[in-house]
Amino acid sequence: MSVRFNRSLFTFILLGFAVPITFAADTGRGGFRPGELWLDDRGVHINAHGGGIIAHDGVYYWFGEHKIAGEAGNVAHVGVHVYSSRDLVHWRDGGIALAVSDNAKSDIVNGCIIERPKVIYNAKTHTFVMWFHLELKGQGYGAARAGLAISDKATGPYKYVGSFRPNKGVLPLGFDAEVKTVPDPGELKDKKSAKAIQAGDSVRQDGQMSRDMTLFVDDDGKGYLLTSSEENRTLHLHELTDDYRGFSGKWTRIFPNASNEAPALFKRAGKYYLFASGTTYWNPNPGRSAMADSIWGPWTVLGNPCRGTQRENATTFASQSTYVLPVSGRPGDFIYMGDRWRPKNAIDGRYVWLPVEWENDRPVLRWHAEWDLSFFTRP
Ligand code: GAL
Repeated sequence: MSVRFNRSLFTFILLGFAVPITFAADTGRGGFRPGELWLDDRGVHINAHGGGIIAHDGVYYWFGEHKIAGEAGNVAHVGVHVYSSRDLVHWRDGGIALAVSDNAKSDIVNGCIIERPKVIYNAKTHTFVMWFHLELKGQGYGAARAGLAISDKATGPYKYVGSFRPNKGVLPLGFDAEVKTVPDPGELKDKKSAKAIQAGDSVRQDGQMSRDMTLFVDDDGKGYLLTSSEENRTLHLHELTDDYRGFSGKWTRIFPNASNEAPALFKRAGKYYLFASGTTYWNPNPGRSAMADSIWGPWTVLGNPCRGTQRENATTFASQSTYVLPVSGRPGDFIYMGDRWRPKNAIDGRYVWLPVEWENDRPVLRWHAEWDLSFFTRP
């Protein structure tokens, strides 16, 4: 009896000290272990799905969808969760940055859909600006709106401003209102949608649909919303106003009718790169990539960036892109961030982060079961 007591006391002491030091607050024993449980400083799996990260004053802030257990987690019951870190490995829980509302009249009432939140810092107004994909409660994915929230502090609380279908009544670059044709209809899948796109029906006068989205800030400080529109058939790039809270009116369509979603945009050595996925709901599919000399295009398809087994390439290492993170202090080094969704138990979704590798000026991804930032400094 006394031996047992001593042993459990020993275990208790050991765990009491060892847990916070050895296991907690870690994306996988000092580095990244894609697909494993990633624990925050409280020892809880990080809850920031479909996320994005900004670096500000030496700290990384990771924003993502807070999911609850079960299929109920596929809609928003809590809001946008934020974590902070100095090394991308140890994450401190910063709580809920943008909370859903109890008010049935609010766009962001509990039960709406809030996906893929991203935050950028606006130096002119000294505010953090969050955009996200918003679907109104009870309307499935029909609303297709871009939601906006702002805060003076990175971790929030963010104040909900409103939601938009961008660039109402404004034609995209190169779109001739009279002729009503688009410059590059791409690979048109069926006659009906081909006709609609040629006729410009999908470029809506009442504002453009906006679903899977990301934000990007260029070297000159201009901000952009890149979003899946036209029923997810065509990516739209919208330039933001100087305060990042609205649309300047300059926008373009990228890869019409190619059905890209989960877009992530990054820039290296003056060239723009794009990762995206196909449209298969929560199921992963072969990744896509593209590059351009100007953000306004023309964009060139680079194909599937994955360099793995056939099966890995077919599923982007069982993930869907959400963001490409520039590593602070290491220009040209990037981390691919993807989600391994678990729609039956949404809270258990996993994070697949991989270093972006390069074949000349083509970004590629390889599987690394365990890796850390020293990857980027290897000779
Ligand atoms: C995916 C999309 C996710 C989510 C999901 C719902 O295609 O990338 O963000 O919207 O569909 O089925």
